[in-house]
Amino acid sequence: MLSADLLVHNIGQLATVPGPGPKRREALADVGLVRGASMLVRDGRVAWVGQERELPTHEAAERLDAGGAAVVPGFVDPHTHLIFAGDRVDEFEMRLRGVTYQEILAAGGGILSTVTKTRAADLDALVASARLRLDRMVAHGSTTVEAKTGYGLSTECELRMLDAIYALDATHPATLVPTFLPAHAFPPEYRDDPDAYVTLIVEEMLPTAIARRPADTTLFADVFCEAGVFTVAQTERILNRARELGYALKLHSDEFEALGGTSLGVSLGATSIDHLMATPDEEITRLAESETVAVLLPGTTFGLGKDDWARARAMIERGVAVALATDLNPGTAWCVSMPFIMALATRYLRLTPAEALTASTLNAAASLGLHHERGSLTPGYYADFLLLDTGD
Ligand code: NIG
Ligand code: FE
Repeated sequence: MLSADLLVHNIGQLATVPGPGPKRREALADVGLVRGASMLVRDGRVAWVGQERELPTHEAAERLDAGGAAVVPGFVDPHTHLIFAGDRVDEFEMRLRGVTYQEILAAGGGILSTVTKTRAADLDALVASARLRLDRMVAHGSTTVEAKTGYGLSTECELRMLDAIYALDATHPATLVPTFLPAHAFPPEYRDDPDAYVTLIVEEMLPTAIARRPADTTLFADVFCEAGVFTVAQTERILNRARELGYALKLHSDEFEALGGTSLGVSLGATSIDHLMATPDEEITRLAESETVAVLLPGTTFGLGKDDWARARAMIERGVAVALATDLNPGTAWCVSMPFIMALATRYLRLTPAEALTASTLNAAASLGLHHERGSLTPGYYADFLLLDTGD
């Protein structure tokens, strides 16, 4: 007799997205579809899943009738800039008139305009504004959300941003995964001596942040490697130090220009490399031969009004493990919705709906190192699931 906390029954279609993943090539489309399914949940984890007629003898404290609807794993959104103050409405209009994202940043706006507003916000204000966004993300089906710092760019404000992530994780039903991103831009104080800021990151910021992370928390370090932002050499200095200190690694690479950051990230064993809109063929091959997950952000291409979509089909065909994320941020992608990202991915990255589902669940979990516990409804995984108001 199986004892369970919850039985979900009368499920029309259940996509288990079978673990462990990450899924590559044809396997990306294998969502493990079970028709006429039931699922038993115990201690927050999937205890049994399968066809209703094979349901084992059980005792369940609670029952949920799915009414023939579909069930999928909760979405994992593995790249967000959830914590920030203010907005950048004025810049959106400038960009519509033809000024580029990089020109705005070089003129001291863009990320730096959000830095000014974020530095002026206290912890409570950062948590409160992010909580509203996180509520909306959950309403759109995200149950695990990565969140980056990167709008503080001083030790004090970057740590405040991390505290905001930890405070939200402790008080919100969503699961948050923290990423430390002091290397998001050069703060105005270091405009004339960027390498001195890199020194501050490696000597002070990285050691301080990892020393005060909560127990049992994986902390990622990330760098915006891009023309006009962090060079490959600066990125290497930061990520090497981060790795020595025990961070897991992420990287923003090839959003606008291919500098070679992707090869660097692969050789350092980055858990994920993100954006990859301008990635050349050789580096797609390097990604395919590695364990590094490629996180594609079509909401950013859309938000920038561009049409240089990441070459997802070439990546999948060569065997790259591909995931999707919103990149929620006030500059390029004010988007809380993984379903919208999946819609863009099917139209412009030419993923099938099944591929987009795996890329938004199990492979997204893999890009956070969580593919053994989240992003799937395989027994043993956390039972983060969505009951859709549709049958398919
Ligand atoms: O991933 N590219 C760098 N960071 C963000 C944009 C952040 C911003 O503009 O505020 C991104 O697109
Ligand atoms: Fe980003």
